[in-house]
Amino acid sequence: MDTGAPEDSNRSGNRSIHEVSDPARRRVLRLGTGAAAAALYGPWLAGCASGQAPPRLGFTGVPTSGADTVVVPPGYVAQVIAPWGEPVGVPGAMPAWKPDASSTAQEQALQLGMHHDGIHYFPLDGSRRGLLVMNHEYVDEGLLFPDGLAGWSAAKVAKAQAAHGISVVEVERTADGWRLVRPSRFARRLTAATPFAVGGPAAGHALMRTAADPAGTRILGTLNNCAAGMTPWGTYLSGEENWAGYFDGGAAITEDQRRWGLREKGWSRWGEHDARFDATRHPNEFHRFGWVVEVDPMDPAATPVKRTALGRAAHEGAWVAVTRDGRAVVYSGEDAAFEYIYKFVSRDRIAPGGGGLTPAQANATLLDHGTLYVARFDADGTGRWLPLVHGHGPLTAAQGFADAGEVVIKARQAADLLGATKMDRPEWLAIEPGGTTVYCTLTNNGARGAPGQPGVDAANPRANNTMGHIIRWTEDGDFGATTFRWDHLLLAGDPDNTRAEAKGTIRGDAFGSPDGLAFDPRGLLWIQTDASSSVMGQGEYARLGNNQMLACDVASGEVRRFLTGPVGCEITGAAFTPDAGTVFVNVQHPGETPRGRSDPANPTRFSRWPDGAAATRPRSATLAIRRRDGGPVGG
Ligand code: FEO
Ligand code: CA
Ligand code: CA
Repeated sequence: MDTGAPEDSNRSGNRSIHEVSDPARRRVLRLGTGAAAAALYGPWLAGCASGQAPPRLGFTGVPTSGADTVVVPPGYVAQVIAPWGEPVGVPGAMPAWKPDASSTAQEQALQLGMHHDGIHYFPLDGSRRGLLVMNHEYVDEGLLFPDGLAGWSAAKVAKAQAAHGISVVEVERTADGWRLVRPSRFARRLTAATPFAVGGPAAGHALMRTAADPAGTRILGTLNNCAAGMTPWGTYLSGEENWAGYFDGGAAITEDQRRWGLREKGWSRWGEHDARFDATRHPNEFHRFGWVVEVDPMDPAATPVKRTALGRAAHEGAWVAVTRDGRAVVYSGEDAAFEYIYKFVSRDRIAPGGGGLTPAQANATLLDHGTLYVARFDADGTGRWLPLVHGHGPLTAAQGFADAGEVVIKARQAADLLGATKMDRPEWLAIEPGGTTVYCTLTNNGARGAPGQPGVDAANPRANNTMGHIIRWTEDGDFGATTFRWDHLLLAGDPDNTRAEAKGTIRGDAFGSPDGLAFDPRGLLWIQTDASSSVMGQGEYARLGNNQMLACDVASGEVRRFLTGPVGCEITGAAFTPDAGTVFVNVQHPGETPRGRSDPANPTRFSRWPDGAAATRPRSATLAIRRRDGGPVGG
C-alpha cells in the first residue's frame, strides 16, 4: 500500500556455511530431525545444503510495461489462482464470488479478502501441496460495494472489516498447474472482527483495557496487514501497518496520539458505525493495533496472538532469524517517513516440540519474553542496536514510561529518546541464507531534506528521495549482536533521469520504490516495487512502467526484471515452494485510482485484470509462477 501521503508524525529532534561448520544446520537440527523438520525449517536450511555459490540470473529479462497484464520471461507461466472474493474453502460454507460485489459481510468473511499482500507457503506435502497464508491489507470501497460509499451503514462497515485480515487456503499442484483445494479443513479467514489473544508486556496493561475488554487481553481483529514472515516453529507473522488511519481522533488530539498519526477524521469511516474506531469514545482501542500478530495455520482452532514484546509500530511485517544458541531474532521495520528499524531477541531458545506438542504449541510464548532494540546507523559504516528496556537510559517513569508495557506501547517515543536513525520508510526485510546479513527496502521519502524536515544522513543519503534504496547490515558475530556494519546494496532510480538524486546506482534494470523483498531457497534476492499510481508513468517514473518484480544476484549486484504487473497494481509477496519450482506472488490493487477510491459507476476505468473482457471490476489476486521445464524459478 502506498497512501501517496505517507504518515510522517516523527517530529523528534556472509560467511559461507562451510566456514562456520554449518551452524544454521546444527541449530535447526536441534529443533527436530527428518523430512518433517526439513520441510518445516526449509528457509533456515536454505543455502546450506547445496554448498553452492549464490546462483546467477538465468532468465531473459522483460522490458518495462504499461499494459494491463502480467508479463513473465519466456519459458515461464503465471497462473491466477486466488482472486479476491473466491471462497477460501471452509467446509459447508463456500459462497460463490458475485461479480456485482453484492456479497454480504457474512459471505465476504468466508471469501478471500481484498488487496492481497504478504504471503507464505507452508508445505503439507513438500512442493506439491501446501497452505498459502496471506494478508489482505485494505479495501477500496468503490470496488467492494456495487454503489461504493453511498448509504454508508453498519452493514457496509462490517463487510469492509470482513474483507480485511488474513486468509488460509490449501493449494495443490496438478498436471494442469496449481489450484485451490476446496473444501479444506485448514481453510480459514481472520478479519477485523476475529478475537485475538495478547501476549507480552502490554497484555492486560491499563492502556490496553476497554469497556468491551476490561482485562485488556482480548482484541477484536487485525488491520492493514501488510508484509508477512514465518517462524522456524511453523507459524505466520503479520504486521499491522497503517492502522492509525482507521480511527477518528476528534478535535482534541493528544501529543501521544499525534505521534502515532491519529487525525481528526480517519479514512475508513468505520467510527461512524462502530464505536471502537471512535477514539474520542474508546481512546485505548487505538493502543490495541500496531502489533505483529502470530497465526498457527496448521491449527484452525488456535487463537491468533498479538505479540506486544515486538513493539507497537506501523509494522510492515516481521522476519525471523535464529542465533547460534537457538534464540529467535525478529526484525521489523516501520513504514512511515522518518521511522525506525527494530529487532527483538528472544530470552529463551526455540523449543523443538514433541511430547504431544507441535513446534507451534511448544513455542506459544517464545515471542513474549526478550529484548527489543532499535537501530542507529552511524556515518562510519557501523551501527548499534539500542535497547528499549524500561528503567534503562531515558526510558523511565519520569520520561513518561511507567513500566515495560508502556515502553512497547509507546515504542516510537522510546526510540525517539534513544536517538534511533530516522529512515526513508522501512518496508520488507530479508535475511540472507547462511550468514548474518539482513537487507531492508526503504521505499521512498520525498520529505527528506525538505524545509523543517530531517536532512540527509549516511544511511538515507538522498534529499527528496523519490526512488528509494536498499540498505543491508551484517551483525557482528551473530544475530543477537548489539553492533553491526552496514552499506547500501543499491540506490534505486532511472539513469535517464536528469536529477542526480533520482538516477540511482542499479547495475541492471531500472526501478523505483522497492517494497517487497525475499530470498529464494537458492539465494537470489527478489525485489518488488510499489510506486504509487499517482506517480507511475510520470516525471521521474516516466520510463519505469507498471510495478514490477526483479531478481538480484547479491554477489555481483546485478538486477534483472522478471515480471511486470497490470495497470495500477503493486507487486507484493514472494513465497517459494521448497524446491524453488514455484513462486506465489500477489498482485495488489490493479486499477488503483490515483489519489482516491475507485468510481463504483466505472470500476473498470483503469484495469480489467485479471478477468479481462468478462471483468466487472479489477481484483487483487495471487499468481503461481513456474518454469515450464520444471526448473527453479530465476535459475
Ligand atoms: Fe503496506 Fe508499507 O506497504
Ligand atoms: Ca509500499
Ligand atoms: Ca508494502
